Amino acid sequence: MENAFNLVIRFAKPEDITELVELHCRSFTPEQHVPVVIGKHYIKAIFKWILQNPLTYAFVAEENHRLIGYICVCDHAYSSRMFLACLPDFIKSVIRNPKLIGSKLLWKRFLRREGYKDEKAKMIASHPGLTYIMFGAVDGNARGKGVYIELYNAVKKYSVTRGARALRGDVYKHNSVMRRVKEKDHWIEIPELETSETVAYFYFLDQSMIDELNLDYPVN
Ligand SMILES: CC(C)(COP(=O)(O)OP(=O)(O)OC[C@H]1O[C@@H](n2cnc3c(N)ncnc32)[C@H](O)[C@@H]1OP(=O)(O)O)[C@@H](O)C(=O)NCCC(=O)NCCS
Repeated sequence: MENAFNLVIRFAKPEDITELVELHCRSFTPEQHVPVVIGKHYIKAIFKWILQNPLTYAFVAEENHRLIGYICVCDHAYSSRMFLACLPDFIKSVIRNPKLIGSKLLWKRFLRREGYKDEKAKMIASHPGLTYIMFGAVDGNARGKGVYIELYNAVKKYSVTRGARALRGDVYKHNSVMRRVKEKDHWIEIPELETSETVAYFYFLDQSMIDELNLDYPVN
């Protein structure tokens, strides 16, 4: 896939991991993505898992052969799977840097357990065909050109071939830029799945799912 400003969207490959780790660590503060606190070794383990696991995949954006963006996707909910798969690397990182044990941010995230608000929220979140956008970023000097929406477009097209009927992406409430991107790309806020810190957005690939979820607000 190539567009007017020489942008190529393709699947991420294991050879991209070093660049992906660097781009990820440049793009996220620890508050925006807690694994960054644990360090590059751990972030590398996450990308390795994403590229090896049959349920996960990633696309990258390249401009003039330079990697300028990426998006990681899971066919299902991913937090616990990812944490368990990368646990050995988490332990190694803590052994290398015992100060991590004192990280307030890490503890806050570990102890955060926000269950579903009610049965309807649980039904929506566990509906079959929901594919999860894990995280992604665009390099600082390539922002504002619509690169992330091009990455979304690749996910929309490909995820359908893996059985997706809707995409879900959770965004920190204070991430106004990401929220703006979702709004521009016509994602729908799902208030039932909102938490104290995050807003859940869906992008419906199969419109019949809207009726199945029995949403009592406009979805268009
Ligand atoms: C969120 C992010 C992926 C958006 O990527 P993008 O390809 O730049 O998105 P867009 O081009 O659609 O621009 C979105 C908004 O960014 C802002 N923007 C525009 N130019 C910008 C620039 N040069 N630098 C920073 N932000 C800019 C504008 O508000 C724009 O909205 P507008 O089109 O209505 O003006 C990117 O900003 C990023 O990587 N942020 C850090 C990581 C992150 O928050 N990831 C999302 C959570 S998983």
